Parts: sequence; structure tokens; C-alpha cells
Amino acid sequence: MSEITKAPISPLNTLPAWNSLTTHREVMRSFVLREQFALDPDRFDRFAFHFDDILVDLSKNLIENQTLALLCALARECRVEEWRDAMFAGAAINNTEQRSVLHTALRNRSGRPVKVHGRDVMPDVKAVQERMRNFAEGVRSGALNGYRGDKFTDVVNIGIGGSDLGPKMVCRALTAYGDRSLNMHFVSNVDATDLMETLRVCKPESTLVLIASKTFTTQETMTNAFSIRHWFLESGAPECAVAQHFAALSTNTAGVEAFGIPAERMFEFWDWVGGRYSLWSAIGLPIAISIGYERFEQLLEGAYRMDEHFRREPFERNLPVLLALLSVWYVNFYGAETHAVLPYDDYLSLLPSYLQQADMESNGKSVQKNGADVKWPTGPVIWGEPGTNGQHAFYQLIHQGTRLIPADFIVPSVSQNPLGDHHEKLLANFLAQTEALMKGKTRSEALAEMHAQGMAEHLAEALASHRSFDGNRPTTSIVCRTLDPQTLGSLIALYEHKIFVQGVIWNVNSFDQWGVELGKQLAKQILPELEDDDPVESHDSSTNGLINAIKEMRRESW
Ligand code: F6P
Repeated sequence: MSEITKAPISPLNTLPAWNSLTTHREVMRSFVLREQFALDPDRFDRFAFHFDDILVDLSKNLIENQTLALLCALARECRVEEWRDAMFAGAAINNTEQRSVLHTALRNRSGRPVKVHGRDVMPDVKAVQERMRNFAEGVRSGALNGYRGDKFTDVVNIGIGGSDLGPKMVCRALTAYGDRSLNMHFVSNVDATDLMETLRVCKPESTLVLIASKTFTTQETMTNAFSIRHWFLESGAPECAVAQHFAALSTNTAGVEAFGIPAERMFEFWDWVGGRYSLWSAIGLPIAISIGYERFEQLLEGAYRMDEHFRREPFERNLPVLLALLSVWYVNFYGAETHAVLPYDDYLSLLPSYLQQADMESNGKSVQKNGADVKWPTGPVIWGEPGTNGQHAFYQLIHQGTRLIPADFIVPSVSQNPLGDHHEKLLANFLAQTEALMKGKTRSEALAEMHAQGMAEHLAEALASHRSFDGNRPTTSIVCRTLDPQTLGSLIALYEHKIFVQGVIWNVNSFDQWGVELGKQLAKQILPELEDDDPVESHDSSTNGLINAIKEMRRESW
């Protein structure tokens, strides 16, 4: 088993490559992207990379050859290769939970064994996949149906976080491949509105419910699970029909049985699959139901191909490594605090929220693997919206605000919905935004433009600084041929491994999430305090004041 997990490492900010990057950053103060493009007609060729049907253009980033060389040296000094190999080999790299991190085993199509504690997990993975195939195809064909013989028309996935965001994002992204006679619903919020509004359009006798929870203890999910079971039984369905209308996607067999879902309706996964990395596991069952198992396999294939790329390519051409290093460059050397994900594809509208969990729950850490405080910024805030909508909302700040916001622009060349010149307009906007962010507009260009419009000199002078842009705003363009299952699989795995590499460099454990626990504990404590009439004094004055005011408002409305 890998020794890397025990190897001492020097603090990141004392590594030779870090020091060289600090010096290089000073040199880069005079770096102007627009000038670089003018000087070097080959800049695109130098910094554009191809992977299957995906083109990743890094040339509009604040980099030159030397930058990437130094960043790759940093990755080597941080022993990214060894950590990567340890992850793929099943080492317990999630050190605070003593777990392997093997979402890659779920899409391992090589025939290689993957061992956890000396045991090959691949037979178990394949067995669950075979059951998923049969179940998904049974639901799609109508061979598996409701207790009155109705074909399922609605599938309600009850889950939250990783048990919701991944399958929801993928089902939305692959709508064009989905069975349109099956309505896919995702209920996550404990706010009953989420469930109630969903159930308004569902009929119990033709609704299939998937309870998705790694732990099968999550408050929101279990509350929604019991409420939907109540809705189902209240409709007159017999208790024994629960087995026919409910399935569980979980690691907790005992919890699933206690809920009343029989073993043959439980699709298992394992503690070495992190929640936010679980869409490839049984948690992906709604995806397989929606698009069919064969296409689900294409999604796995795409991810597998990216895994192989990540395992084999030298850092200088390794896309997840390069994206991670760029992020480190901006976060640690430019002080960037956020990173925008801007898909120019409405089908990818949920990608930013999916990546928020993937990235921020993974690298939102301020403690190193050994428990020492980090002395460098770690994971940035991830945010975004689909283009072109964002252009009319927040792009102003990306163009002219005081903060540097690196952004990923993602677009398919070919639309799944060709209609008139819509897609050409979408593409034109995609291209125009990255060009504008790179080039900016000088004061003299702004003045010339106003003069050409016949504007009075004094007015043009007054407006010139408002109408000029610095440019030099970094963007990465990710262009795919079309958003098919395989391409999407590769894209998601690209981001997963990017996040992994960042975590190795920052020396944080990207696979735990202790920070979310305190809120859960306090919510459990507060819940009974809301239920009686007594004034609450056990918290700070703000929390007490809020609890008591809420109780008062609720009393008044009864
Ligand atoms: O609270 C955070 C979290 O543990 C996530 O990491 C996870 O994806 C989500 O809750 C849901 O957990 P589960 O699948 O166990 O219900």
C-alpha cells in the first residue's frame, strides 16, 4: 500500500517551486494578455488541448510557458503523482475517516482489480450495476410497474447533497436522451414546499420513489421519505405495495430494511464512495432510469477515459492537473476568492450548483491533513449561471469590478435543439465574452468609438473611463462537439480530478466534511425548543431572540 499517506511533506509555502512562483508573479505584473496575443500568433496552439471531443483552451489565462512549467514543478513537489496513484490503488487517503476514495472503481472499465483491504471490489460493483440495469430497463419498459398494474410515469428521487445534486444535474443535462414519458423529480429540501409541489403532479399508483441516502440517516431525506410514504399509503395503497413503489440507494442495509424497503429493492454502494462523488454508483439509478442503462454506461465510459488521461498524461498535458494548477495560480498568487462556472448550454444549468458541492465541500478546509492550520488560501467560492442569462445580470462585475474572477466558459458546438440561428447567437456570445474579458477596451478606443458616434468632446472625455475596460480577465474555454453522455462523463471527471489535485496541493483532505456537522447538531437541539411554548434562554441573545420571535409569530397565526 502507498507510503505517500505517511510521508512527511514540507509546508506548501516553503517549497522551491512556490518561491519561484512568488518571484514569477512579480514578473507577471506587467503581463498583458492582449499584447501577448498580438506578439504570438501561436498562443492558441500552445495552450489549447484536445481530449476526445473536448477542446480546452487555456490561452486566455494569465500564463506563459514559464508559469505552467513552475506550476507543474509545484505539483511534482507536492507529490501529486503519488497521491493520485494512491487514490486509484485504494489507499485510505481520506485520513480523518480512514477510508479509501474509489469513485473511479465505479467506472473502471479496464478489467483491472481494485482492492480495498486486499479484496477486489469490482465483482460487487458489477453485481450492483447488473441489478441497476435490470431495474432501470424494467421501469422503462413497464415490466416493473405499480401495484395496480400502472406503468410508472413519475420517478421521485428523495435525497440531498451528493444524493441529489449529481443525478439531478445529469438528468437535466441529458434531457435530450431521456425517456420523455417518465417525469423525473428531485426532492431535497426539508421545506415541505419542495415535496408538496412535486406531489401535486404525481399520482401514487404510477409513482416510483427512490430514497437516496448514503447514510440513510440524513434528517431532510428521512423526513421527506416518511412523508412521501405517508402520502402513498394515505391514497389507499396497501402497505405491501411500498415494496413495489419504493427503492433505496444506500450503504445502510439495516436502515433501509427498518424503513420497510426489502433487500431486492436496495441498491448498495460503499463507504469508499464519497457522497459528492457518488453519481457513478447506485445513486445514479435515476440517471439510468431516465436515459437507459446503455447510455448510463456511456457516461461511465466518458469518466473512465478521463480517469485514464489523468493517470497517464504528463502534467504538462494533463487537463485536470492543468485546471487545478491554474486555480492555485489565481487563488494563491492573485488573491482570487471566487471562480465562475458559466455553461453556455441550458442543459448544464445545474452544473454550477453541482460543482459548488463537489468543490466547496471538498476543499473548503482550513486545516491540513495533519491537523495543522493552513497558511495559504484554499478552495474558492464556486458560482455561476448559464450564459447568456448571466451576461445580463452579473457579468458587469467580472468585466469591470475590482475583483479578479477566473471563469470557465463551457459550450457545445452543436445544439441538441437546432432552431433558426439560436445556437449561432449563443456561440457568438460565448466567444465575444471571452474575447472581451481578455482584450478589454482602452481609453483611446473608447474615445474613438464615441467620437465616431458624433459625441461632443467634453461628454466623451467624461465618459471615457466608464466605457473603458482593463481586460486581462482570465478565462478557460471548454468546447465540446455536443453534450452527449460520454462527453458529460468526461467533463464531470475532469472537474472531480481537478478538485483532487487542488486538495493535494493545499494539503487538505478533500474527502471529509466535518464543517457541516455543527449546524446539524444545533438543529437537533433547537427542534424540540421550537415545539413547546416556553421562552428559550439557552443560546446567545440573537438565537434566543430569533427563536422566541418565531414562536410568537407562529402562536399569533394559529
Ligand atoms: O451534510 C453533508 C452531506 O453529508 C453530504 O456530504 C452528503 O452528500 C449529504 O449530506 C447527504 O448525505 P446522505 O447521502 O448520507 O443522505
